[in-house]
Amino acid sequence: MNVLLTGGTGYIGSHTAVVLLQSGYRVVLYDNLSNSSDAVLEKLAQITGQPIPFIKGDVRDTELLISTLAAHRIDAVVHFAGLKAVGESVEKPVDYYANNVQGTISLLQAMQSAQVKTLVFSSSATVYGEPQFLPLDESHPTSATNPYGRSKLHIEEMLKDVAASDPAWGIACLRYFNPVGAHESGLIGENPNGVPNNLMPYIAQVAAGQRAELSVFGADYPTADGTGVRDYIHVMDLAQGHAAALAFLSATIGWHAVNLGTGKGYSVLDMIQAVEKASGQRVPYKIVARRAGDVAACYADPKKAGEALNWRATRTLDDMCASTWRFQQSQRLSVMS
Ligand code: NAD
Ligand code: UD1
Repeated sequence: MNVLLTGGTGYIGSHTAVVLLQSGYRVVLYDNLSNSSDAVLEKLAQITGQPIPFIKGDVRDTELLISTLAAHRIDAVVHFAGLKAVGESVEKPVDYYANNVQGTISLLQAMQSAQVKTLVFSSSATVYGEPQFLPLDESHPTSATNPYGRSKLHIEEMLKDVAASDPAWGIACLRYFNPVGAHESGLIGENPNGVPNNLMPYIAQVAAGQRAELSVFGADYPTADGTGVRDYIHVMDLAQGHAAALAFLSATIGWHAVNLGTGKGYSVLDMIQAVEKASGQRVPYKIVARRAGDVAACYADPKKAGEALNWRATRTLDDMCASTWRFQQSQRLSVMS
């Protein structure tokens, strides 16, 4: 089976490429490199022992997508391509709707034209908005608090309409919780440009001595230690969730939303401690004001993924931190060499 990964050179796409190749799929990567580098292709070849076809292109280029789907005889698409920074989406909503919503419309047009009707979409737990109950299951009402989240919600709804219009479509919207960690080789991982917005890459840079200290955004939440609680999931578990979703769609039609999370929540202080343990380095921190838009706690009910996809996360918090640290160290070595 031939699978196109849009956004395939990015953080989650590159890890998913490894898992899909190792599960016997033929994989083609498609990316405009706006938030990744083609240097990842060499790392992927090193990990998997084979070169992976890559097309540099934008998902809004419908003609290029149509010719790619035909040339590589694509059977299914995993759609990672998009912009993902919440703060930036508030500043530049048009860019977010253009890349995420317009990009998905273009992809759907191309898929329709090429008669490819199996799609796995990168959604997010952000579509649940402010949690009304925990753990979050797929029946929780959806809402959005920023343009990034709204773009994901619009796409999910568009995809529901598409699946309803034609029984040949099989679509899985995977609602990721908080992906962290790296491939066990340390060759690929999350490498954000500039100051990281997310907790794990920030902590890793403090442990590595690249930043002086972490600002903990609020210690007065109604959680066990007062800091925010999230469902961190190892990116390799997440990648395996995509293989499980493709297997599920080979026997199922219609639209499906599925959480990919562990069901366990860890606080910011838990994460600091875990990275200190994995790295053997201290992570200095200071408590500062809450970050606007943050919720106290957010974690998944992963039952549906277990039942429908026969998938569950198996890697521990220690695995997440050890692989993050390995990648962090290998980055440092490659900068020095
Ligand atoms: P990433 O930025 O590393 O990967 C996205 C890739 O898409 C990048 O390589 C980028 O160059 C590419 N891209 C962006 N716009 C494009 C366009 N118009 N045409 C072609 N390529 C384009 O991000 P990621 O963390 O790997 O996220 C992948 C997907 O998962 C995104 O859709 C994101 O919204 C979603 N998601 C991520 C998280 C997370 O915490 N990382 C959580 C929930 C959902
Ligand atoms: C953020 C996004 C969310 C997206 C998710 C993907 C926001 C408001 N939300 O979620 O839409 O789907 O990333 O991973 O950006 N923290 C600190 N100090 C820091 C950074 C974070 O204390 O320097 C805390 C936060 O307050 C939070 C936790 O760490 O309690 C996790 O933060 P983060 O990694 O940014 O993820 P989310 O806020 O869950």
